[in-house]
Amino acid sequence: MKEKIQLTGRSLLKLSDLTDGEMMYLLDLADTLKKEKKMGLPRDRLRKKNIALLFEKASTRTRAAFTVAAVDEGASVEYMGMHDIHLGKKESIKDTARVLGRMFDAIQFRGFRQETAEILARYSGVPVWNGLTDDEHPTQALADLMTIREYFHYLQGLKVVYLGDGRNNVCLSLMMGCAKSGMHFVDCTPPELMPPKDFLDQAAEIAQRNGGTITVCPDQADAVKNAHVIYTDVWVSMGEEDQFARRVRLLKPYQVNMSLMRQTGHLENDTVIFLHCLPAFHNNETELTHQCGALEVTDDVFEAPFSKVFDQAENRLHTIKAVIVATLT
Ligand code: CP
Ligand code: NVA
Repeated sequence: MKEKIQLTGRSLLKLSDLTDGEMMYLLDLADTLKKEKKMGLPRDRLRKKNIALLFEKASTRTRAAFTVAAVDEGASVEYMGMHDIHLGKKESIKDTARVLGRMFDAIQFRGFRQETAEILARYSGVPVWNGLTDDEHPTQALADLMTIREYFHYLQGLKVVYLGDGRNNVCLSLMMGCAKSGMHFVDCTPPELMPPKDFLDQAAEIAQRNGGTITVCPDQADAVKNAHVIYTDVWVSMGEEDQFARRVRLLKPYQVNMSLMRQTGHLENDTVIFLHCLPAFHNNETELTHQCGALEVTDDVFEAPFSKVFDQAENRLHTIKAVIVATLT
């Protein structure tokens, strides 16, 4: 029997909050919303809704996507940065949640602790969307899957290889998304950065149920063979800046470069794409890479035709809009 999808009033704190069917529903809705926007169809599904955007960490894409998605559908947003409000400093998270819940229809939270997102959801009484925490980045994974499906037209059975920090927020949400879609996900990371065992076990069980697999493989050449998607993220996530030098030493062999892309065996027939959640260190044009140059991905890979990173960035808008529309209407 087909599952009845009803997401109204729901929060999205981690990707496993969604059933497999609910996740696919959001991907389908995102495709529809993208088509509507390209056709210039006026929509007003969120008229009179007010959305709070709480940010403890910096953001370009997530902030822009939530703002444009909400405004496209007639809602208003209020940006609240970590230096603007009392959250956790002069006021408990629980009290802030109860105040915001009296005024706003929903809250987006980007920050450090997953527990903060959970407390906001528990006490505000309105949907809370995780726009990235130390643990997960669920709206990113939705955009990743949408981008993969746009290119290949299906998900089940494709091989996705993530190289780099194999236990960060982006990796874990992507792993869960691939498990839910029945893909073959390989986490190519050194033993020092292994994902938590309970998360791996949960993802592996979900993948198996959908005909997919989850593997951890420290060897780059073995991992990337026959890959359809090569994915990487920064080696040092926000909040871990003190680990920079150590992490660069550890992850240097996991850099995505042309030689690695060729080892997929799929470059010649256009059956492999490169993805990155962004921002990316692919040249020396940032303050951090001014001296050292590219880190997790080389510039030739980043700029290659098989790199779909800007489609992926755009799809943050359409997938986030799907989450907002599905949970607020
Ligand atoms: N990918 C992503 O979350 O980008 P921002 O940090 O710019 O929001
Ligand atoms: N893993 C990165 C993702 C940024 C979008 C971080 O948390 O900083």
